[in-house]
Amino acid sequence: APSDPDLVERARAAKAALGDRVFVLGHHYQRDEVIEFADVTGDSFKLARDAAARPEAEYIVFCGVHFMAESADILTSQRQKVVLPDLAAGCSMADMATAEQVAECWDVLTEAGVADVTVPVSYMNSSADIKAFTGRHGGTICTSSNARRALEWAFAQGDERRGGERESGASGERDGSGLESKVLFLPDQHLGRNTAVRELGMSLDDCVVYNPHKPDGGLTAQQLRDAKMILWRGHCSVHGRFSLDSVRDVRERIPGVNVLVHPECKHEVVAAADHVGSTEHIIKALEAAPPGSKWAIGTELNLVRRLANRFADEDKEVVFLDRTVCFCSTMNRIDLPHLVWALESLVDGKVVNRIEVDAETEKFAKLALERMLALP
Ligand code: 13P
Ligand code: SF4
Repeated sequence: APSDPDLVERARAAKAALGDRVFVLGHHYQRDEVIEFADVTGDSFKLARDAAARPEAEYIVFCGVHFMAESADILTSQRQKVVLPDLAAGCSMADMATAEQVAECWDVLTEAGVADVTVPVSYMNSSADIKAFTGRHGGTICTSSNARRALEWAFAQGDERRGGERESGASGERDGSGLESKVLFLPDQHLGRNTAVRELGMSLDDCVVYNPHKPDGGLTAQQLRDAKMILWRGHCSVHGRFSLDSVRDVRERIPGVNVLVHPECKHEVVAAADHVGSTEHIIKALEAAPPGSKWAIGTELNLVRRLANRFADEDKEVVFLDRTVCFCSTMNRIDLPHLVWALESLVDGKVVNRIEVDAETEKFAKLALERMLALP
């Protein structure tokens, strides 16, 4: 439905009144009515960088979800205030790993004798607490567009630690064979598994899943020692719903279709797809696609609909991979009324829904985020 013209006018007026003092970021999964007012759109990696590159903006209005606004607060200066137009815009995946659960997991790894050779890699889609845990334990953050480089970096770090241990004489050895370096991947098991298997050439058997709801994560010490990837049992409720059947059905319905999915989809879906990539990657792939080509996209519906409209003019057919999967409900919480309210409050000198990470958490979370930004 077209946006309420009165709200559109108010959003325009509030933005004009604030000028360069405000910078509005919009994730690709946001509603059209919100994207229209974004100064920049992007995937979570690009938005993190864009937020950090705007020191002159007093206010960053983040149209996305909570963990993204937290990351923006961490990467911007003390003076800048980050606003999330609706505080209920969380992320169910990020909520699947709490600080207590992750601390307990680290104890389990320590108990099994593998913590010393394990480097945490946390997906951007995690709370600031989890990012801080990652920074404290020498790990990095990743997004869906740099997960491969993050994993390569982390394994290299793990190998360095093993080398260091051997020199100092401490035993990293088991039965005469050294323990392999490992990655604890939080909180999206699918991105972790897909990256390890598709991009680093590991086998599915190299991965184990740590279930925070079971004692010891449901794993034996031996399983932890044998694993290369320890995957947290988290997933995205939107991408988790695409199935192998969705891929089969669309191939039957549209002969010659290219199936392009986000790496938060299950491994079997990714394995059956033709291409895999982050939201930025999906957009670039469609831009580069020849006229007459057909595409089934497995990611959030707001983005797919926008792409379908945009590329219809260029004679590229873009359809949603599965007709039963829907919007990300928390991304959709940010709507035009909330955006107008946030902007008009700023015009009135009131900062509503400020997202502020405490100094101690920020220090270590920033370390982990900066390691990501420094990845080659
Ligand atoms: P990106 O492709 O931006 O990493 O986004 C995936 C996602 O689910 C963000 O919540
Ligand atoms: Fe979280 Fe999935 Fe929504 Fe992204 S799409 S915000 S990962 S629930």
